[in-house]
Amino acid sequence: MISATPARAGGRFVTVEGIDGAGKSSHIEALADWARARGVDVVLTREPGGTPLAERLRDLFLHEPMDPLTEALLVFAARRDHLRQVIEPALSRGAMVLCDRFTDATFAYQGAGRGFDLAVLSQLETWVQQGRQPDLTLWFDLDPTEAARRRAAVRSADRLEREDESFFTRVRDGYAQRAQATPARFARIDAAQTREAVRADAIAALAERGWFPQPLSPLPATDDRRA
Ligand code: TMP
Repeated sequence: MISATPARAGGRFVTVEGIDGAGKSSHIEALADWARARGVDVVLTREPGGTPLAERLRDLFLHEPMDPLTEALLVFAARRDHLRQVIEPALSRGAMVLCDRFTDATFAYQGAGRGFDLAVLSQLETWVQQGRQPDLTLWFDLDPTEAARRRAAVRSADRLEREDESFFTRVRDGYAQRAQATPARFARIDAAQTREAVRADAIAALAERGWFPQPLSPLPATDDRRA
């Protein structure tokens, strides 16, 4: 039910997560469009990246060999700049920030995937984020074998994507542990479904929060006759 006085969607921080190949990035624009159709100022961004400095760190991160501590320091350095330059100002002015990956990725990839010390990651998280956490995390969950098949079909692999299936199994388990630890923040999306069903579930997870007013103009109706 949509209340007569719409809840404010502004100032919300929404992150999108999942193992490489789960398909999350292909749905982010649609999620942003859905919110914009409801009059919400949406800032679409990503990690590592989102500022000129953080994008340069991303390039190093994805392509230069390095140890897990260096990985963690680079993603948190990029995150610090991203928070200061983009995320916090956008949230302060009442925008919704929709971010392709955030700190759950660090716990999943560097923590669970690489086996890096979770206590050190938590310390870095405290220093860098000063308490900032996402309000909602859409977790696109997919079996690592299927994710590898999808990746191979669409793109050449970067340094992380060249990791083997056991790495992505650990990363997926890392996401599952994060979701279990803070279930109210997480919405698990079954990414094995058809593209349309995945998109519908992701939008439903956003809509369920009750943050959004009615659309400003009618959205095209879905064609139920095909069902
Ligand atoms: P992307 O391909 O979804 O943009 O993500 C870039 C890669 O960086 C992806 O393989 C996940 C990885 N990553 C980490 O290992 N740690 C992090 O903290 C983040 C944000 C991403």
